[in-house]
Amino acid sequence: MCGPALPLCLLLFIGGTHGKVTAPANLKAEVGRPLLLTCNITTTSRDTVHQVRWLNKQDKVLLAYEQSTPLRISHQDPNVQLTTSNKDASYITIKRVRPDDEGCYRCVFDVFPSGHQEARTCVSVTGKVRQEGNKTAVSGKSTTLSCWYSLPERVQQVLWRKTAEQGDTTTVASHARHGHHSVAEQFEGRVDLSRTLGDTQLTVQQVRTEDEACYTCEFHTYPDGTKSATTCLSVYVLPKPEVSHVASSSGFTEANCTAQSRPAADITWDVGGENKTLGPPVSSSYDQGDGTTIVTSTLLFQSGLLSEHSIKCIVHHPGLEKPLTAFVNTNMGSAMVILLSVCGVAAILLLCLCVCLCKCFICTDD
Ligand SMILES: *[C@@H]1O[C@H](CO)[C@@H](O)[C@H](O)[C@H]1NC(C)=O
Ligand SMILES: *[C@@H]1O[C@H](CO)[C@@H](O)[C@H](O)[C@H]1NC(C)=O
Ligand SMILES: *[C@@H]1O[C@H](CO)[C@@H](O)[C@H](O)[C@H]1NC(C)=O
Ligand SMILES: *[C@@H]1O[C@H](CO)[C@@H](O)[C@H](O)[C@H]1NC(C)=O
Repeated sequence: MCGPALPLCLLLFIGGTHGKVTAPANLKAEVGRPLLLTCNITTTSRDTVHQVRWLNKQDKVLLAYEQSTPLRISHQDPNVQLTTSNKDASYITIKRVRPDDEGCYRCVFDVFPSGHQEARTCVSVTGKVRQEGNKTAVSGKSTTLSCWYSLPERVQQVLWRKTAEQGDTTTVASHARHGHHSVAEQFEGRVDLSRTLGDTQLTVQQVRTEDEACYTCEFHTYPDGTKSATTCLSVYVLPKPEVSHVASSSGFTEANCTAQSRPAADITWDVGGENKTLGPPVSSSYDQGDGTTIVTSTLLFQSGLLSEHSIKCIVHHPGLEKPLTAFVNTNMGSAMVILLSVCGVAAILLLCLCVCLCKCFICTDD
């Protein structure tokens, strides 16, 4: 296109890049987050940048400074800070993006002798979905899953979907701006969805093991589009340990500690410190069809131990604040009964003595 005038063309091209300011044309920013705006400038050694100004969509100056050493900031919006400034670039940060920060921003470089040069970046602001993170619920209790969209006024509809472990997804419930509210038939009566748009809560009553799944809250927004987040729910069935024991003729006792739970419980034993067991306990587990597991721990020990110590099985489970303890022998219990009886008898004796003494004194007084 330039043909024989190539040198001129080259000159124009070089000339065109002098003092040219570049900036990204479009940026997406998330509300509440910081946003970096950048402008680069190509200058020759003859050019000097005197001043840089950043303007918002209303042409209001957000930040202005003189490119001197030291740098002199003549104007600064409290929500804006200067991030980088050198002879080739000027970067500013909007500390916290607000919904009305949407629009086009300009950086204007006052260059001597070539005059002022500028570039423009248009920013669109979107919201963000927040959720609480994965949850666990105890079978039979209720649980609530929550999600928020940071620009509630843009939400047109909220929808919750359930994705089971097998991967099939079903819609659980939805709520739309103009009052449309629905809960899928299979969840009706047990699942409630809040009648709100910006923050949404899905409550499941009487949680069952089949409620264990990942739940996605979907915000249908305008103009941000569909935004979603996923929370996974684990369902626990708490153990109720049971112990049993049988003594054999050979002087040993076999004790079992059994706990049915989801996930499987971990069973340990406390035999009072002394090593009178026949090897470590043996554990076995059986998966039940309903998602729970039965764990049985079997311990073999010298029968004499039963009268010396309390033997207890300790059941650990992630759904328990502290482990559960189940006693094999009631020796400690009977010891307590004896202790209480002795105390009781002593108290009665003491009372009799008091009454006697009192009567005696009253008698002498008369
Ligand atoms: C500005 O310059 C920096 C460093 O040279 C570069 O990483 C960045 O991509 C440039 N930005 C633009 C908009 O040209
Ligand atoms: C939540 O649970 C899912 C599936 O169990 C897992 O893939 C994901 O990493 C978990 N997320 C967090 C934040 O722990
Ligand atoms: C302990 O459990 C095992 C296997 O589960 C069983 O064979 C045994 O009879 C049980 N013993 C007692 C004392 O319950
Ligand atoms: C306890 O005794 C049994 C057998 O008598 C032995 O196998 C085991 O290692 C002992 N454990 C400890 C902690 O000493």
